[in-house]
Amino acid sequence: MPEDVIHLNLFTMNSVEHVTVGSWRYPGDQSARYRDRTYWTEVARTAERGGFDGVFFADVRGIYDVYGGSRDPAIERAVQTPSNDPAYLVPAMAEVTDHLGFAVTKSTSYTHPYQLAREFSTLDHLTDGRVAFNVVTSYLESAAANLGLGERLGHDERYDRAQEFMEVCYALWEDSWEDGAVVRDAAAGRFTDPAKVHTIDHAGEHFDVVGPHGCEPSPQRTPVIYQAGSSDRGRAFAAANAEAVFVSQPTPEQVREYVDDLRSRAADHGRDPDELMFFPGIVPIVGATAELAEAKHESYREHVDVEGVLALLSGFVDVDLSELDPDQKIEHIETEAIQGTVNAFAGGESTWTVREMAQFAGLGTTSPVVVGTPAEVADELQWWFEEVGVDGFNVKEVARPGSLADFVDLVLPELRERGLVRESYEGATLRENLTGRRRLSETHPARQ
Ligand SMILES: Cc1cc2nc3c(=O)[nH]c(=O)nc-3n(C[C@H](O)[C@H](O)[C@H](O)COP(=O)(O)O)c2cc1C
Repeated sequence: MPEDVIHLNLFTMNSVEHVTVGSWRYPGDQSARYRDRTYWTEVARTAERGGFDGVFFADVRGIYDVYGGSRDPAIERAVQTPSNDPAYLVPAMAEVTDHLGFAVTKSTSYTHPYQLAREFSTLDHLTDGRVAFNVVTSYLESAAANLGLGERLGHDERYDRAQEFMEVCYALWEDSWEDGAVVRDAAAGRFTDPAKVHTIDHAGEHFDVVGPHGCEPSPQRTPVIYQAGSSDRGRAFAAANAEAVFVSQPTPEQVREYVDDLRSRAADHGRDPDELMFFPGIVPIVGATAELAEAKHESYREHVDVEGVLALLSGFVDVDLSELDPDQKIEHIETEAIQGTVNAFAGGESTWTVREMAQFAGLGTTSPVVVGTPAEVADELQWWFEEVGVDGFNVKEVARPGSLADFVDLVLPELRERGLVRESYEGATLRENLTGRRRLSETHPARQ
């Protein structure tokens, strides 16, 4: 096992804006360079210099067109549009790094498992085992309209499809090619032993896939599985599949409840509950002094594009927030989109108004914003790690790439001094760096 250290993902998107809408206008911000390969190779080098486990790429299909019933606000304000496919950045970023991992988001609603298994096997080969698959089911209705499916599938039905999707992928990655199938015996003219390559013969409700897998086994076989389910059905899916889980609950109590619930559900699947790793998002805003950090925070807040944030959140929750009174309290909403996000702001002791939610969410949606000196930011991360029991963080950038560079140059030396982050990478693959294992755990349902 790697030492018990804080693990870090940079949380970003191959687009102008991800979850800090308006920040592209911040002086010196380079988000508009997202089309430029050298922007991403610089990001990769900086993240690896900081000892990050991975760069995590969010991705969506479709346009945020729920707010005001129009796509115009999202297009005008660059709300996750325009964006490019993240998978193609991976080989370029892998080329300039040796250890950094890459988590790529793909939707089980809009692709086919045979196709996806091939894409990830290819990436895993090209990166020497440094990829993760962030499994999403997609929440935007506008995506369904683009991909020939008519109406978006219902929330729970998307998860049913996702579960079968994963079973097909696991069979292709884990069971189709035995170890040692590739013999490369030039004298005998025999590259692969056909007796060791098997069909998977999957016949299910959503997919029929005969196999065998077209790719030989890659270093990790199954990429590291990331997931972020908040609803009851989403939690069930995460407990059965995820190795690393993204946590979006905004308070420590809600995070603890989530972690305990998922670990107990994982045990119900015969898994070792401690194998699940938990990553809340965090928005670090750091300055050499508390005053400088606060000034930076103020300036970031001034650049928040409130209407753009409401367009983003309306897409997340599939509710047109332009119709609500800004001072109205958010109530529990049953939605076909992201159930967890809206309900994080609803009910309980901490009830939010629409306006408060938008202001808070402008710097990284539901994640805590931590403002302070390197020591103060490190204190906060240490507290979450030691007292709440999370395994690490998705570090969200505000100004790009300045927020990442600040974190690497100011906060990481402080964490390193406290022995809370790694001195150097222990493993060759992403899974080894996260868990010490190269392959999926033997208690994971894919291997049982
Ligand atoms: C940190 C984090 C990152 C996410 N990234 C994406 C993404 O890139 N693309 C996407 O379609 N959904 C993304 N989601 C949404 C999740 O896949 C999922 O739909 C959401 O957490 C709601 O789960 P639920 O439907 O079970 O409530 C993300 C969620 C979280 C918390």
